[in-house]
Amino acid sequence: EKGGYEHFMLKEIFEQTSSIHDTIRGRVSPQNKEVFLGGINDVIPKLVNARRILIIGCGTSWHAGMVGEYLFEEFARIPVEVEYASEFRYRNPVIFEDDIVLAISQSGETADTLAAIKLAKQAGATVLGICNVVGSSIPRETDAGVYTHAGPEIGVASTKAFTAQVTVLTMMAMLVGYRKGTLPKEEYHKLIDEFAHLPEKIAKILEKDQDIKELSKRYIESTNALYLGRGFLFPVALEGALKLKEISYIHAEGYPAAEMKHGPIALIDEHMPVFVAATKDKSYEKIVSNIQEVKARKGHVIAIVTEGDTVIADMADYVIEIPETLEALAPLLTVVPFQLISYYIAVLRGCNVDQPRNLAKSVTVE
Ligand code: F6R
Repeated sequence: EKGGYEHFMLKEIFEQTSSIHDTIRGRVSPQNKEVFLGGINDVIPKLVNARRILIIGCGTSWHAGMVGEYLFEEFARIPVEVEYASEFRYRNPVIFEDDIVLAISQSGETADTLAAIKLAKQAGATVLGICNVVGSSIPRETDAGVYTHAGPEIGVASTKAFTAQVTVLTMMAMLVGYRKGTLPKEEYHKLIDEFAHLPEKIAKILEKDQDIKELSKRYIESTNALYLGRGFLFPVALEGALKLKEISYIHAEGYPAAEMKHGPIALIDEHMPVFVAATKDKSYEKIVSNIQEVKARKGHVIAIVTEGDTVIADMADYVIEIPETLEALAPLLTVVPFQLISYYIAVLRGCNVDQPRNLAKSVTVE
């Protein structure tokens, strides 16, 4: 049932070439240059006119929500607040009747997310869901939603569900932005065309699997790690750090790269691996300076870069090249090497990657 892979997690990382395809199937049409999301078609006018969107989730789903914030603000110019479901529900939150509340959950059973949905409904908001497990509790509680269709995720650490969630959020933001007129037609079409290339680009990253395994050997004795990114890649840094800590038990923190100088830089020495998502985008020059700051303090830099990047290759201790894509789609590619690094570090440390200690696949306790 692991399809020849040693662990479900590895199988699920590799499945991302096809799971992304399953998420967009019948929804993104390069022929008609269209995005269609049947599950929320009726609420698109509400989304187009929304004054704000509140995204709620926990863990990895919350990270996907963070990417969603950047996407909705960029494409649809709708203010977004991303909330941990547990904080949201317990703090007497301000919810307006014209708010759109978007709940994200792989399992569809997370207790805090479910309770936050009920609260939002009581307040009269429109509640939408992005879930993976068909027929689970969250889709039954929401007014409308979109399934991620990533297939069953067995490994406790979420991988293909994350890329599927981000894919759905991207499609939603594109669709709403285009209808609203804030996402120009040529941009919209470029995104649609690029979607079709994502599976093959992920496959190209997965070809580096053995190189990534080799690289991971260097970090199995680490006790701490930092993950840095900017813009769309900041949530990817958070997700990279979560993956490492939950399965390898190495303490890791994700940070927006520019925040480093406000504290975490004090941690950097020759024992600190710093994983940086540094593909070519509008913050590229800035992230190059951040890498220099780390190197000046003898930190060990492992950077995910765009194919052909020589500038960072000259500075970093190790680079992992990934294919070029549009800035807004970069999270879908950059997260993949981070998943593999965590997987190999954990396996080489002898950890039970599919069932890490103290964790459950769905958290039905509050
Ligand atoms: C991380 C992980 C957890 C879940 C979180 C939410 O790899 O698996 O952080 O993301 O428990 O679960 P769902 O998405 O099922 O609501």
